[in-house]
Amino acid sequence: MGKESQIEPTDRGTVVFVCDPHWEGHGRAMAGKLGAPVHLLSDLTLDDLADAQQVVVDADLRDMQSVGRLKHALDRVPAIKARTFLIDDGGSERLLRVQANALGATRHMVRKFALAELRREYSVTGRARRTPAADAALRAAKGGASIVEAERSLETVFEGMLSDAPISLEAVSQAAVGVLASVKAVGADAWLASVRQHHEGTFQHCLLVTGVAAGFAKGAKLGTGQAAALMNAALLHDVGKAVIPRHILDKPGKLTPEEFEAVKLHPGAGFDYLSKQGSVSALVLDAVRHHHEALDGSGYPDRLRGAGIGPLTRILTVCDIFAALVETRPYKDARTPREAINMLVDMSISSKVDYAAVRTLAGSFGVPLPEQFGDVVRGFTQTRPYG
Ligand SMILES: [Fe+2]
Ligand SMILES: [Fe+2]
Repeated sequence: MGKESQIEPTDRGTVVFVCDPHWEGHGRAMAGKLGAPVHLLSDLTLDDLADAQQVVVDADLRDMQSVGRLKHALDRVPAIKARTFLIDDGGSERLLRVQANALGATRHMVRKFALAELRREYSVTGRARRTPAADAALRAAKGGASIVEAERSLETVFEGMLSDAPISLEAVSQAAVGVLASVKAVGADAWLASVRQHHEGTFQHCLLVTGVAAGFAKGAKLGTGQAAALMNAALLHDVGKAVIPRHILDKPGKLTPEEFEAVKLHPGAGFDYLSKQGSVSALVLDAVRHHHEALDGSGYPDRLRGAGIGPLTRILTVCDIFAALVETRPYKDARTPREAINMLVDMSISSKVDYAAVRTLAGSFGVPLPEQFGDVVRGFTQTRPYG
């Protein structure tokens, strides 16, 4: 893994980028990928830094006017714990480091490697390891062995994406087959409960989607090929989150517009990375790219609508939303499967998700829904038959 960070993950609060106007393009692109607001040094105010716990400075430290401005601002905001300075390597690197230190730098990063380094530091793969006792408890839980295998697979894929290294789809497929068998043996509810008890954040989510997909495959009696495609798509669907900072993914409150724009990059980023592997089927790639599309065209990244969204993608989307609703987070209560299904039914009535997929999923989780969508709509306007 990358360079040891000087601050604990929990301390990684709001990051603010400050850049010189002539590097605005680079600064904006980088800050955008990390979901951080960016301010130009030429019109930086103390208000811009008021909530910052970290600043990343991309300024020309040879320019005394820039240095003076920075000093003026940073001296007045002592609460900023981490001050990262991006510098050019080469001839004047030493001088620039000295200059940055004079401005209270807690570390330096060579500009051309900085995005990769910051992404690695902020990513979900940098999370804490389980203790041996917690590990043993997970292995002993229902479905534990398949959960550990799926988790290992996820880790490999996330780390592969972060370092742009090739991955083997074989290990992913094997883990997916293991989850499917395990869910068939212990039941989806028990398998999901084990995940909720032993995982959090993005890893919990990805595992839950995989378990929900297994429940769907079982309930729908999908054939081996279809089930394998759905399971692989489920395990891989959020790999693009490897490059989204963890403090955004796990943020307890509403995302800022910058943060939401950063999150919206994940389906495309995952698709691009997986496309390069050459071993992921077109169907799975399509589902990864489009799992946040909506039937009415209000989704992302391509604003597909209706028939433009394929069956596997529709199923994955429904499993993804269901998993997100039943996941546990420290700051909110998980919804029950029945509540989650009700919300998905509402979403199908408002033309976001596919009703047939919702109905099959509901059946897999013991919530019977009317066969005809028209009956659901009528029921919705009278009393909810599925409440
Ligand atoms: Fe996603
Ligand atoms: Fe997801």
